Amino acid sequence: MSESLIEVRDNAGIVRLTINRPKALNALNSEVIAELERLLVDLEGRDDLRAVLITGAGEKAFVAGADITEMRGKSPQQARDFAGQALRTIKRLETLPVPVVALVNGFCLGGGCELALACDWAVASDNAIFGQPEVQLGVIPGFGGTQRLPRRVGPAMALDLVTTGRKIDAAEALRIGLVNRVMTQDELEAYADELAGQLGGNGPQAVRSAKQAVHDGLDQDLDSALALENSLFALCFACEEQTEGMGAFVEKRKPNFR
Ligand code: CAA
Repeated sequence: MSESLIEVRDNAGIVRLTINRPKALNALNSEVIAELERLLVDLEGRDDLRAVLITGAGEKAFVAGADITEMRGKSPQQARDFAGQALRTIKRLETLPVPVVALVNGFCLGGGCELALACDWAVASDNAIFGQPEVQLGVIPGFGGTQRLPRRVGPAMALDLVTTGRKIDAAEALRIGLVNRVMTQDELEAYADELAGQLGGNGPQAVRSAKQAVHDGLDQDLDSALALENSLFALCFACEEQTEGMGAFVEKRKPNFR
C-alpha cells in the first residue's frame, strides 16, 4: 500500500497533519494540495476540533516550496489554476475555527513559508531556514506570500525578503516576528502535547471566539472591531462555559468544560 501524502494524528481533537514527501523535501505538488484540501474540508465540520498542527516529515524540511518540477512547464493559465488551488486550500487552513500552528522543522521556503504564514502562529526548530526565494527562479511568491508576509513582519522586511530571495535562520525569523518561539527538534516533537495541556483546560468555545475576534477584527476599522469584540464577549455569557468557568473560580476548583 502506498504511503499517504499527508499523515494525520488525532489526540483528543488536537490534530497533527504531517506533509509526507520527504524525498522532495515535502514540496507542494497538486496531489499534496488536493489531499490537504480534502482533509481540511473534513476538519471544518468537526465540533470536537481543538487545534491543528501542521509539519513536514523528516528532520530536514517543513516544506521546501511549491513543486518546481511540476510548475516548470506550466502555461500562465495553468500557473494561475495551480496557485489558485493552493490559495483556496491555504485559506481553508487559515479560517479553521480553532488555533492552527505551524511546526517548522527545517527548510521553510517559498510555498512552505506561505503555508506557515497562514497559520495563527509558528514555532520553529533551531535548524529551520526561512525564505521567499521565488525571484531566484524568475517568479514571485504565488501562494499568498506577497500579502501575508508584509502583514506579519511589516512591508519593509517583507520587501527585503521577497526581492532579494535571501534565506534567514530561525533566530532572525524569531526577531522579525515570523515565528513565536524557537526550540530543539525534540521539543518541537513534544509541542502537540504541550499545546494539548495548555488548551485542554480552556473553554473550547471561548478559544474559538477569541480566534474569531482577532481574525475578523483585523479586517475592520478599530471601532467596528471593538464592537465585534463586545458582541462576541456578550455571547460568551449565553454559553454554559461562562457559568462553569466563573463558577469554578468562585468555588476554588478547576473548571470542567465539556
Ligand atoms: N520542488 C521540487 N523538488 C524539490 C524542491 C521543490 N521546491 N525542493 C527540493 N526538492 C527536491 C530536490 O530536487 C531534490 O530531489 P532529487 O533528490 O530528486 O534531486 C530533493 O528535494 C532534495 O533537495 P536537494 O538535493 O536540493 O537538497 P539540498 O540540501 O542540497 O538543498 C534546498 C535544500 C536549499 C531547500 C534546495 O532543495 C532548494 O533550494 N529547493 C528549492 C527551494 C525553493 O526555491 N523554493 C521555492 C519554490 S517556488 C514556490 O514556492 C512558488 C510559490 O510561491 C508558489
